[in-house]
Amino acid sequence: MTEAEKYTRTAVLLHWGIALFILINVSLGLGANYAPVPWQRPMIDLHKSIGITVLFLVIARIAWRLTHKPPTLPADYAPWERTLAHTVHYALYFLILALPLTGWIHDSAWSAAAGHPLKLFWVIPWFRLGFITTLPAATKHEFHLWFGIIHTYLGYTLYALVAGHIAGALKHQLLDHRPELQRMWR
Ligand code: HEM
Repeated sequence: MTEAEKYTRTAVLLHWGIALFILINVSLGLGANYAPVPWQRPMIDLHKSIGITVLFLVIARIAWRLTHKPPTLPADYAPWERTLAHTVHYALYFLILALPLTGWIHDSAWSAAAGHPLKLFWVIPWFRLGFITTLPAATKHEFHLWFGIIHTYLGYTLYALVAGHIAGALKHQLLDHRPELQRMWR
């Protein structure tokens, strides 16, 4: 496989770094509901820290994507496969950006936010979104509720799309015998 058929080192690092952080964050977000009570707050605090980190990594990834041409798909992939792959990729970009943003809005609208300052990884003080924290209490309550629901449903959409994304990659790798995973590996 030639270099031109592979993603760059930066793109590979961003792809797998973001994938790992999202996997951890989904586990923390879902797991906090079932964890013993004393663990719940630290788990959610870590979830917020990782989520804000993901936001930065996703911005870096979108900047990479806008400034680099990704390796083209092999010429013999069917047109429907190309369209489907590109659609899923754009939807995944949208979701990995929308998930941290909706989480941040949900958290900024939390009525107890003032008593629980955000600290990334318990070290770096971080801010809530000022245009949300200054809303009237009733509006803030609605924001907290609705953005919590949106955050959860974006999560469900993410699970479905990631499953499709992995299924597509495995189809090319195992059924079509094409070096698909090698494109996103160094
Ligand atoms: C990588 C980005 C993120 C992913 C993939 C993610 C995913 C999730 C998931 C799957 C849940 C569980 C929803 C459920 O109960 O079904 C959740 C809950 C939650 N997330 Fe996120 N999230 C991300 C970023 C953030 C950020 C940046 C914040 C805040 C700064 C945040 C705040 C929250 C809060 C407060 C909850 C509710 C936890 C609870 O009370 O049960 N999330 N998230």
